[in-house]
Amino acid sequence: MDTMQALGALLDPASRPDPYPLYARLRDAGPTWVESVSALVVARYADCDALLRDPRLSAERGRDQLKHMARVLPADAPSSVLQPWFLSLDPPDHTRLRRLVSKAFTARSVARMESSIAVLTDELLDAAADRTHMDVVADLAYPLPMTVICRLLGVPMADEPLFRDWSARLTRLIDGFDARMTSDDTMPDWLHASVEMHRYVSGLVDARRSDPGDDLISELLAIRHEGDTLTHDELISTVVLLLVAGHETTVNLIANSVLALLRCPDRLSALRDDPTTAPALVEETLRFDPPVQLTARVVSEDAEICGVPLSRGSFVYLMLAAAHRDPSQFDRPDVFDPDRTDLTHLAFGLGPHFCLGAPLARLEARIALTRFAQRVVDPAASQDPPPYREHLNLRGPRAVPLTHSGI
Ligand code: HEM
Repeated sequence: MDTMQALGALLDPASRPDPYPLYARLRDAGPTWVESVSALVVARYADCDALLRDPRLSAERGRDQLKHMARVLPADAPSSVLQPWFLSLDPPDHTRLRRLVSKAFTARSVARMESSIAVLTDELLDAAADRTHMDVVADLAYPLPMTVICRLLGVPMADEPLFRDWSARLTRLIDGFDARMTSDDTMPDWLHASVEMHRYVSGLVDARRSDPGDDLISELLAIRHEGDTLTHDELISTVVLLLVAGHETTVNLIANSVLALLRCPDRLSALRDDPTTAPALVEETLRFDPPVQLTARVVSEDAEICGVPLSRGSFVYLMLAAAHRDPSQFDRPDVFDPDRTDLTHLAFGLGPHFCLGAPLARLEARIALTRFAQRVVDPAASQDPPPYREHLNLRGPRAVPLTHSGI
């Protein structure tokens, strides 16, 4: 099987329960130009690591898509819909926006949420306590990050269901190859969701402007750095980015890590007795089964990348999940081993675009995992492997059903 065939097989949802043998094919083949997706596919750890910091590669992979969006958007759509996320901007715009947002969304503000995340986790487990079965995704992994991010931003609780709906629809936008396949002149569903969400967030921002509260939107409104501040559109675009980037990814981290624990009962009982083992479990899950499986870059000038001559504008896919199983980087890469001494990963990216929400994702996963281990008695997976979501990029189970003898 060559790279093109392996990629084709990856696009087939049948590969979702275990895409790793296909990733091995991509790694073995080395960096390869694949005509069918018009991109260089890179799957080895050293290459992904180097390219994430390579200034010849641009994060501005959404230009064509923005042009397409501008063409199909209705005239009354909020202008912020066309404001690019800073995730897909290069310096100096990226540097400026990231600096401003980082002043409000700090590791300290995240650490302050620890006790409220623990309370929320317990409430979710309490709600599942009167049954002998639970679904880790529906009962814990899905609602926890949604409520946390909504509370952080100051979204009223009654409106959370709106965000669940928008978030699920908008993830199509960041789902790997799909995002580039929009070429007709109809508005895709994720764009409808985006328009609705921007309208809502714009109203929320206006309300906070006249009546600031103790939430991240109010803090983002108040940021000043050397006379600079976020424009209205930049603020709305950032709030939407935080909601989308901060939700589905963390759902998958929690679900993937609980699944890993269910498969290693000794680790589960060790965690119950010693919560300090949680961070290593979370980090090894991020390596072993990363929630974000790949990312993309665009070549900003004609250049040779991994020995392959590419012209300006060519896409490069960095197959992070494949890199995480690279035997040149990891000893026994296909074994889930939180004690490994070579534990490192690219799950949050690297370099200038390193995930801004990593401290929050880690905190939520650590608390969810620990409270799960301490409270759910004798959990046993009812279906292994569980059913997987169809996404290629955002990897996670649709449900993790289990039985238990008490919560
Ligand atoms: C960037 C993964 C949770 C906000 C990224 C990137 C990755 C990533 C791989 C870099 C993309 C690239 O370089 O192309 C994850 C994973 C998460 C997670 C696996 C959960 C397990 C969060 C959370 C938030 C967040 C909770 C916020 C609430 C962001 C933002 C960026 C980003 C704003 C853009 C940073 C920049 O471009 O400077 N994330 N993320 N993420 N993430 Fe996360």
